[in-house]
Amino acid sequence: MGRIPLACSSGPGAAAGQPSRGQTTCEGAPDTSTAAGQPSLGGATASPARWDDSIWLDVSTGTGEMAELLSRLTNPNTTVLATDFSLPMLRKAALKKNVRTRKILLAVADDGLLPLRDDSLDLVTISLGTRNLNTTRSALVSCFAEFHRVLKPGGWFVNLETSQPRSRAVRALFHGYVRAFLKPVASAISGNRSAYSYLARTICSFNGPEELAAIIREAGFTRVEVTKLFLGVAAIHEARK
Ligand SMILES: C[S@@+](CC[C@H](N)C(=O)[O-])C[C@H]1O[C@@H](n2cnc3c(N)ncnc32)[C@H](O)[C@@H]1O
Repeated sequence: MGRIPLACSSGPGAAAGQPSRGQTTCEGAPDTSTAAGQPSLGGATASPARWDDSIWLDVSTGTGEMAELLSRLTNPNTTVLATDFSLPMLRKAALKKNVRTRKILLAVADDGLLPLRDDSLDLVTISLGTRNLNTTRSALVSCFAEFHRVLKPGGWFVNLETSQPRSRAVRALFHGYVRAFLKPVASAISGNRSAYSYLARTICSFNGPEELAAIIREAGFTRVEVTKLFLGVAAIHEARK
């Protein structure tokens, strides 16, 4: 079982471990203390595998969809952490099956100041959250640098986000669809006009794949690889520490 390098100020079974900075609270966390005083994930059994004792973190996890997916890919010895700075979102994530079965530990934390030790994780993922961090280029670099800090040397960072199609025609169609259809229809259905105005604005102004790759490199990552999805409307960036 992987050590959990996460400190919780309160909550059931708060995880042990010394934080390098920041504070957090946990939801759905099991009692992580073992007889030896090392944190471990309750209910797991030993099983030799590639990801033995590794720790994965999904930041900006929202309702925990990606964390749930990750937890299905792991063996029992992998610890999956999921963080978000919104407690209401984490309350929804707490309903996910693998949070209830304690395969995923939830914690409140800001992506820019993770309460985790340096060099402690094997994988950090973020899905559809990066646009929200991108108030300025330097804010984005600094968040990515925080993900870099908590990863072990050789650890992986995976970013899934909307992107900008290279083809001008496809880009125009995509932006037209977002502004003329997604924004008004989603606003009408949800009754939340400002949220979908923000969504449309950030989707249309977000970085293209090469620009985002450059920002990831600026944060300290190497071997950045990009996989474009749906004609470039979205992209997965993978990088190594
Ligand atoms: C669009 S949701 C994405 C949720 C989820 N990753 C998914 O794929 O469904 C963005 C999430 O990022 C969270 N968020 C935004 N800025 C954050 C920050 N600085 N630190 C932590 N969470 C943040 C929001 O609370 C929200 O839950």
